Amino acid sequence: MGRTMRTPIIAGNWKLNKTVSEAVALTSELKELVEGTDGVEIVVAPTFTALHAVSNSIKDSNVLLAAQDVYWEDSGAYTGEVSAPMLKDVGCDYVIIGHSERRQYFGETNETVNQKVKTALSHNLKPIVCVGEQLEERESGQTESIIKDHITGGTSGLTADALLSCVIAYEPVWAIGTGKTATPEQAQEVHQFIRNLLRDNFSDEVASQVRIQYGGSVKPENAAELMAQPDVDGALVGGASLQAESFAQIVKNTI
Ligand code: 13P
Repeated sequence: MGRTMRTPIIAGNWKLNKTVSEAVALTSELKELVEGTDGVEIVVAPTFTALHAVSNSIKDSNVLLAAQDVYWEDSGAYTGEVSAPMLKDVGCDYVIIGHSERRQYFGETNETVNQKVKTALSHNLKPIVCVGEQLEERESGQTESIIKDHITGGTSGLTADALLSCVIAYEPVWAIGTGKTATPEQAQEVHQFIRNLLRDNFSDEVASQVRIQYGGSVKPENAAELMAQPDVDGALVGGASLQAESFAQIVKNTI
């Protein structure tokens, strides 16, 4: 089965950027630029503090909402955390889980990723599960084993049906925020490897339906070439999602 059955998904990860008013201004501009664009899912992931305002701003538009993280308990004495029911309540459809910055700076592991993925799914939030190798790991030939650990650990214990609600984001750490994009061939190679893993761990049918995004210095100028790869089904965009024009252009260059 080919790519045609998978709707591409372009998500903007705003990371630690934008006050509420800046977030609403960006969203308002973006909504107008992508109005009527179909054949691609468009998602924005503001900080927790801006979720509510952005959620109101995208009502009746074709832009969907994601959070950048979630905790695995629903409520209780967990100071500083935000739960899946809370994200659902504020209007999130998606949640980014296991971003390399969370793995690097905040102690996220394959086990915590897996707990968060399961919790998100049980609350009808679709996880965007991030995986990716660091530069030293690539240079020492460990890319596939790292990706295998991230995928197998992150999706452990899921049913094939549950996996269908997940999106995988392949983000080579050396390409994030560096301006150094993976070549389309490098991206395709890992995306195909991921799809084969999903085939081995789940089923052929599921593997051919799950969307795999590429992330790492995606810009309007390189989006089309990356998206043209047979196993690249969208992008997780950092820096270039902070301006409506460039993010909208990436969306348009995808279809
Ligand atoms: P950049 O697009 O800024 O490289 O960030 C990618 C990323 O980490 C998206 O989650």
